[in-house]
Formats: sequence, C-alpha cells, structure tokens
Amino acid sequence: MRKPVIAGNWKMHMTCAQAKEYMDSFLPLIGNDFQTRCNVVIAPPFTAISTMSRLVAGSSVDLSSQNVHWEEQGAFTAEVSPIMLLEHNVKYAIVGHSEPRKYFSESDEQINKRAVSAQKNGLVPIVCVGETDEQRERGEAERVIRRQVEQGLERTDPDNLVIAYEPIWAIGTGKTCAATEANRICSLIRSWVPSPNLVIQYGGSVKPENIDELMSMSDIDGVLVGGSSLDPKSFARIVNYMPN
Ligand code: PGA
Repeated sequence: MRKPVIAGNWKMHMTCAQAKEYMDSFLPLIGNDFQTRCNVVIAPPFTAISTMSRLVAGSSVDLSSQNVHWEEQGAFTAEVSPIMLLEHNVKYAIVGHSEPRKYFSESDEQINKRAVSAQKNGLVPIVCVGETDEQRERGEAERVIRRQVEQGLERTDPDNLVIAYEPIWAIGTGKTCAATEANRICSLIRSWVPSPNLVIQYGGSVKPENIDELMSMSDIDGVLVGGSSLDPKSFARIVNYMPN
C-alpha cells in the first residue's frame, strides 16, 4: 500500500520568525488525523531547519532539505551534508529539482550521487524529474524523463525513495498539467521502476483548486507544492484533500 506524501517546498522563502508564525497557524488546521491518510513534509531553507525541527516536534510533520551533498564533510563551500541534516531530524532530501538543474547546471550524475548518499545515510530522497516546454513540443518528454529516472536512480533502492514528476512548464506558472496527463506520465515512470512501494508525486502549480482531482488519480501518490505551500491555509487545504 503506497502512502501519499504531501510535501511543501518553501524554496528561498521564510525567515525563522516567519516559519514560527506559519506553523502556529498551519498545525491546528491539519490536526493529527492526516497521519492515517498521508505523510506531510515541509522543506524549509537550510537557515530555518533548526527552528523548524523544534516547531514540528510533537506533530507528525516531517522535514525535508531542498538539496544534500554526497560527502559527509569536506571542502565543498555552500553545500550541506546528510549527517548535518540528520542532526536536525530531517527525514527527506529533495534532489534534482529543476531550479538547481537550470540555474546551477546540476547533472543527472550529480543528482544520482546525492540520492545514493542520502539513502546510505538514512534520508529518503525525493528525486525530481520533468521536461521543459520545448522538449514536450518536440515530442521528447518521455525520452527525457526516462533518462532522468534511469540515471538519477542508478544504484538506489527504489523501495526507499520518492519520485516527483514536475513538468518544468508547470512550475510556478499557474499552468497545471492536466490530471490525466500527469497520471499517464506517473504510470509510465512506474513501469520503468519495478517497485510496488514506489511513491510518485506530481508537482507544478498544485493548489487548493486542483488537489482533489490530482489525488483521485490512480498513479499519483502525493504532490510537491511550491507557491501554494507558502500560505498555511492553502497548504492545509492541500493536506486535507478530498479525492473525488
Ligand atoms: P509550484 O512549484 O507549486 O510553485 O509550481 C513546484 C515546485 O517547484 O516544486
């Protein structure tokens, strides 16, 4: 049985003070019953992780990092290692998000090293894959996603990771991928990774208005939410989804 993972990626938003204000409003809105339906995860910026680790204590909300390095320590300016995250009870690590892929030229090989090391150290990687607008228009979407999945997951344990299918043209644009198309791609990914436990999320302009339809799809096991996770009321409505 695949338990959905509803994750909020705060990106480069939220000071520690803002995180506290957010959680004061968010936690009462989601209660405790969600645990029987889904796992709820928040990925704050690194500077708010220690504060967030205190704020989620006693709730069932888990923490994720927005990236993770493959080494435990060393001369890697600006990077954060898995053991540093474990110290703050972080459980998941997003790797291969389209923003570091685009702005910092992250390669599938680097993303794979991050995912392998995350697993080795007891973190659950959330491996993001997805095509650009141009790739979709050229009919290359499936080939691109397949390459990202195969290279990104090399030497990983598919029973202990999450894949987030995030079409890049749908991220932060308000353009959601039709639920049926998102489901088709998620089921295709599932056919390439033979694990009955593989959790596959959809991400890209997820909001209160489309969450119920997305969560009604057979192969979508949760969502990775950017913009709408920044408002506690919106993200709580997403956590409290009601499949059709
Ligand atoms: P969005 O971002 O929900 O703002 O489109 C999704 C993501 O980048 O994970």
